[in-house]
Amino acid sequence: MKIAVIGTGYVGLVTAAVFARFGHQVWGVDIDKPKIKSLKSKIVPFYEPGLKKLAVEGIDRKKLHFTTSYKKALKDAKIVFICVGTPAKRNGEYNLSYVFGAAKSIAQNLKRNTVVVIKSTVPPSINKKVKKIIKKYTDVSFDLASCPEFLREGSAVKDSLHPSRIVIGAESEKAKSLLLKLHKPIVGSRLITDTKSAQMIKYAANAFLATKISFINTIARICDEIGASIDDISKGLGLDPRIGKSFLKAGLGYGGSCFPKDTWALVAFAKKVGYDFAFLKQVDQVNQGQIDYFVKKVKKACGGSVKDKRLTILGLSFKPNTSDVREARSVPLIKKLKKMGAKIYACDPAATREAKKAIKNIKFFTDPYKALKNSNALILVTEWEEFKSLDFKKAAKLMKEKIVVDGRNFLDSKKLKELGFRYNGVGRQ
Ligand code: UDX
Repeated sequence: MKIAVIGTGYVGLVTAAVFARFGHQVWGVDIDKPKIKSLKSKIVPFYEPGLKKLAVEGIDRKKLHFTTSYKKALKDAKIVFICVGTPAKRNGEYNLSYVFGAAKSIAQNLKRNTVVVIKSTVPPSINKKVKKIIKKYTDVSFDLASCPEFLREGSAVKDSLHPSRIVIGAESEKAKSLLLKLHKPIVGSRLITDTKSAQMIKYAANAFLATKISFINTIARICDEIGASIDDISKGLGLDPRIGKSFLKAGLGYGGSCFPKDTWALVAFAKKVGYDFAFLKQVDQVNQGQIDYFVKKVKKACGGSVKDKRLTILGLSFKPNTSDVREARSVPLIKKLKKMGAKIYACDPAATREAKKAIKNIKFFTDPYKALKNSNALILVTEWEEFKSLDFKKAAKLMKEKIVVDGRNFLDSKKLKELGFRYNGVGRQ
């Protein structure tokens, strides 16, 4: 089957590479000419485990193609996926101009009945407008569907091949059966629903997971006050199957391209339909406040001030196994520490290039030991496995002061204390 995928970001590229792997003829489209040129030369512009291999395989087998031409991509395509970005606007709503732009370009190049599937995260109810745009520019019939993605960066390929569920929001039998056929080789629960509900599932899932994180971070603050252990509390909660053990890791809070943006967007969407989602606003506030809370911890650990202190930040990406720094906690944290007079030495296994665009006037290192030399404190921001297996004996000798502030409750506090470090976690003693 020929498939067109509009947008070659995380979602689009992974979607395209996965369907190409199942033997379909997939055409990835992007308006970004240099990006398409790179992809044609087998260069994947970001780090995502397994993606390069999958994309190169697809290109070599002549199943995966890239173009800037909608005309080429849409010719004889049975399904077209809209996977363009929906960045946040200042008021929290999504900027939907890329989705509308893609709808217009699809319409202008539609030559046969096609199923148009929205994969980008969009507010429920957008379909009416997308339909209107397509109808404005073509008389060719089409079916509109929604197929939200639930993939996590860092495990996007794995999540696409083994998803927890496949949600198909379809308005017609044709769209439903074609999408079920397309997803046939992928094992996982299927849920068929209307398009609005499909899009609402995506919103609600992200809002719920963000809520779990802010909840556990609030409990962690109480633990700090009373000297209880958040690790044990998370374990104790997770043993209850009604709660589940995932997304109960306390620390610096959530970042990334989805949770912050999607919670703001849901608050804005709820307001539009007449509901004040105060509770979700609070979830966001707790998350934002987590940075200041952590800065206070760093200050206290450094004896009351970070002025002229050399602080080594380990981890810049918003989570491990990705080069993405969008809404990464490292960015506001470093900015705040710098403002307070700290000298920042940062190290990340994959995100340095991206971080350099977001953070200026700090020193970047590829070798964590070089970053730790003469440092007053080690500040763990992203839980890369590389940092867990550091030789802390060596680090202790290199550092000026043996202070660790662990923003992800990731390091072995017992071992560090034995080595003479003063260890500080979040809700962890
Ligand atoms: C998320 C959703 O998981 C995914 O289903 C959706 O499609 C896109 O958004 P992603 O942004 O890639 O995926 O990352 P995720 O692994 O969910 O983590 C998001 C943030 O939450 C990270 O900054 C992470 O460090 C933080 N987090 C996660 C916690 O602070 N504690 C936790 O227990 C879990």
